[in-house]
Amino acid sequence: MAPPPSAVRAFQRRLLAWYARHGRDLPWRRTRVPYRVLVSEIMLQQTQVDRVIPKYRQFLRAFPTLRALAAADVDEVRRLWYPLGYNVRPVRLHAIARETVARYGGRLPDDREALRALPGVGRYTAGAVLSFAFGRDAAVLDTNVRRVLGRVFFGPRRLKHLRGEARMWDLAEALVPAGRGYDFNQALMDFGATWCTPRRPRCAPCPMRRSCAAFPTLAGEARS
Ligand code: ADE
Repeated sequence: MAPPPSAVRAFQRRLLAWYARHGRDLPWRRTRVPYRVLVSEIMLQQTQVDRVIPKYRQFLRAFPTLRALAAADVDEVRRLWYPLGYNVRPVRLHAIARETVARYGGRLPDDREALRALPGVGRYTAGAVLSFAFGRDAAVLDTNVRRVLGRVFFGPRRLKHLRGEARMWDLAEALVPAGRGYDFNQALMDFGATWCTPRRPRCAPCPMRRSCAAFPTLAGEARS
């Protein structure tokens, strides 16, 4: 149940125009090296951009390639990761490196199924690597994107029941403009993180407001 083509096109056009003006210059947007993209996405899964930036740089200095990471001791990888939280992410990343070296000669596969078969790689991470490293028109759906699409296409919170997971993925897939998966997905990330925020969305200057199903309810809530 995709939105009408005119609504899809309007959303794509507005979001890409917004990104051209307001998109952030982030270190992982200056590379297309799949390993670097993967490191950034795994770090960003549970950690804010500001905290990820120095760690991303430090991590890549210590482990500049998948091969270097695969050759490292997992405890060393965990130690370096530790300020981002004591959790399973560094262990998974290390396991991905080992498996990629063993099975794919140290290159991340550019294939959805092969990516999803790697340790801890779910639909989000596969979509992020496909679009950000390989320029594919794959969809991404994380907390920020869910909130943006939920608001714009389904309306305020009380319509939450309409936002099933499968449905949100279908919507995310239907929205990616042909040939623009990279910019579109980066734009969604920034728009969700900096404008269409959980508590105080910037509805007044928002380019989506005329077509947003949550406006003006949301703008009213944000003011009060
Ligand atoms: N969060 C997850 N992926 C991101 C990206 N590529 N840029 C900014 N924030 C993100």
